[in-house]
Amino acid sequence: MKPKIYITRKLPDQITQKLKEYCEVDMWEEEDTSVPREVLEKKITEVDGLYCLLTETIDHHLINKTSKLKVISNMAVGYNNIDIEAANKKGIMVTNTPGILTETTADLTFSLLMVTARRVVEATNFIKEGNWQTWSPMLLTGQDVYGATMGIIGMGRIGEAVARRAKGFNMNVYYYNRTRKPDLEEELQLFYVDKETLLKNSDFVCVLTPYSAETSNLIDTFEFQLMKETSILVNTSRGGIVNEDALYKALVDGEIWGAGLDVFEEEPLSKDNPLLSLPNLVALPHIGSASKKTRLKMADMAADQLIQGLQGSEPTNLVNE
Ligand code: DGY
Repeated sequence: MKPKIYITRKLPDQITQKLKEYCEVDMWEEEDTSVPREVLEKKITEVDGLYCLLTETIDHHLINKTSKLKVISNMAVGYNNIDIEAANKKGIMVTNTPGILTETTADLTFSLLMVTARRVVEATNFIKEGNWQTWSPMLLTGQDVYGATMGIIGMGRIGEAVARRAKGFNMNVYYYNRTRKPDLEEELQLFYVDKETLLKNSDFVCVLTPYSAETSNLIDTFEFQLMKETSILVNTSRGGIVNEDALYKALVDGEIWGAGLDVFEEEPLSKDNPLLSLPNLVALPHIGSASKKTRLKMADMAADQLIQGLQGSEPTNLVNE
């Protein structure tokens, strides 16, 4: 008998077809809405495997309801939406999709940095709103990227890919990370510094560390006070790492010059969120890994992980500690 699985969002046909070869598949059939909690609460009691997205909070309440669940496959590299400790207690394997989204996410991080620095969104709106009268010396002037100083918080795969792009722009690169990376430092001429030094000296601060209790509110009022008035914060990791109230204040008070965010404390971000009223903030709807190729690879990798676990082998991307 095939194992039963539940998929929490409509996936491309090629992925569901693959899963159907090995599993009995039940799926939330909508592409643009998340599965309601009460549906998930019921489904999770009936299946051997769960294929989920970062939009689902798989907390201990949900995990404790399961009786036969063996594998949770998260179609994301970040897995802070899943209570790993609760999964460990129930002997449930949890997997993610590392590696394949690195370059795509680094591309988006760098794009967001450049768009924010050069006021691209503001400039487009300026034309669309009929405000362009003439070329003017200081019109829509921004910050230079080439040759500036970049501070990377979190030197994992994506941090490294962003550092490589920064070197292509002749940037001076500082990084702050739990562990040093001497080989990478030598290869790319990076400088390992403490958080305060990084914040005080960087023109761009890119947040690329995973979300955890340790990194929650890592950038808060004190950190903004350390940053340069001309600096730009870019966050493409997880929302809770940057305190949004403190960011709002820092942008309004001119403690920093601008911010580019792809992630938020609460997603989706409400259109009434005060951050959206600020001209010096560029907001994106969590699209770091959103190229067609990469999203298909992530969906496929998450399917493989689920199949591996359900077939009794240890999945290659097991994240349980
Ligand atoms: C992830 O994978 O964790 C990203 O946030 C979505 O691609």
